[in-house]
Amino acid sequence: MAKAKQIAIYGKGGIGKSTTTSNLSAALSKLGFKVMQFGCDPKSDSTNTLRDGAYIPTVLDTLREKNEVNAHEVIYQGFNGIYCVEAGGPAPGVGCAGRGIITAVELFKQQRIFEELDLDFVIYDVLGDVVCGGFAVPIREGIAEHVFTVSSADFMAVYAANNLFRGIQKYSKAGGALLGGLIANSINQPYAKEIIDDFVAQTKTRVVEYIPRSVTVTQCELQGKTTIEAAPDSAQARVYSSLAEKIAAHQESKTPAPLEARELREWAGKWGQYLLAFETGDIRRELTANL
Ligand SMILES: Nc1ncnc2c1ncn2[C@@H]1O[C@H](COP(=O)(O)OP(=O)(O)OP(=O)(O)O)[C@@H](O)[C@H]1O
Ligand SMILES: [Mg+2]
Repeated sequence: MAKAKQIAIYGKGGIGKSTTTSNLSAALSKLGFKVMQFGCDPKSDSTNTLRDGAYIPTVLDTLREKNEVNAHEVIYQGFNGIYCVEAGGPAPGVGCAGRGIITAVELFKQQRIFEELDLDFVIYDVLGDVVCGGFAVPIREGIAEHVFTVSSADFMAVYAANNLFRGIQKYSKAGGALLGGLIANSINQPYAKEIIDDFVAQTKTRVVEYIPRSVTVTQCELQGKTTIEAAPDSAQARVYSSLAEKIAAHQESKTPAPLEARELREWAGKWGQYLLAFETGDIRRELTANL
């Protein structure tokens, strides 16, 4: 029995983590893999589009009701047999939001669920902020082996990705997860690809897939479904399938080289100048020389 590949997906709030993760899970399941999607967000909305838009009870809520929980009670099957779990969180304003992950992972480890279900992939959909210890759990303590970050070319998304790289660099010394790469989402704007390509070059990582912003995703989400399920023949579904193939083939993750705060500012400033130059038509050779 092969050990499940454990993957964590991080990224700035609202950047498309859950959408990308659910489509990735759906596409991996279509390739014949057994997948568990593990929502680690207290909003507990990660797995909705795998279950026709329906919410599932979270691990923490279930534990609050009963003291003893069999892990099978918090695992719900979704599209194409995907196992869906939502860790959940404390009541708003109370306690550490990362506690759900810690508790849920402990429960599954104790009851040897990953082995029992003979999973090929466990995919953790996590908040972008590694500041709180709870959210760092999947990349600390050897739970996930590979981290992928979802980012657009917007500065705040890149900023969050760079912060994540710092966390990975820090925990990697203690045997934490390493970075598999960046999933570029909503790449339609002019120069968005160039900005992301430059950022991964600077931080010594790579882009796994470029995902366009697409109305197909919106249409499918409004039906409570992933693009893979509701529009399997669309161009967007082909992009998610390609992402799944690359992640299935992915073997070796690396320690990224995050930029210092000052370097990141300078990097952003440089792009600000480029974009202004393109906008005004004032494309000077020295500005574009290294594009
Ligand atoms: N490639 C895309 N094309 C069109 N819409 C997209 C795309 N990616 C994400 N979206 C939309 O953006 C919104 C936010 O996406 P999503 O919920 O996946 O983000 P998230 O990072 O999980 O957010 P949160 O941090 O709140 O959990 C959703 O309505 C989703 O449909
Ligand atoms: Mg989400």
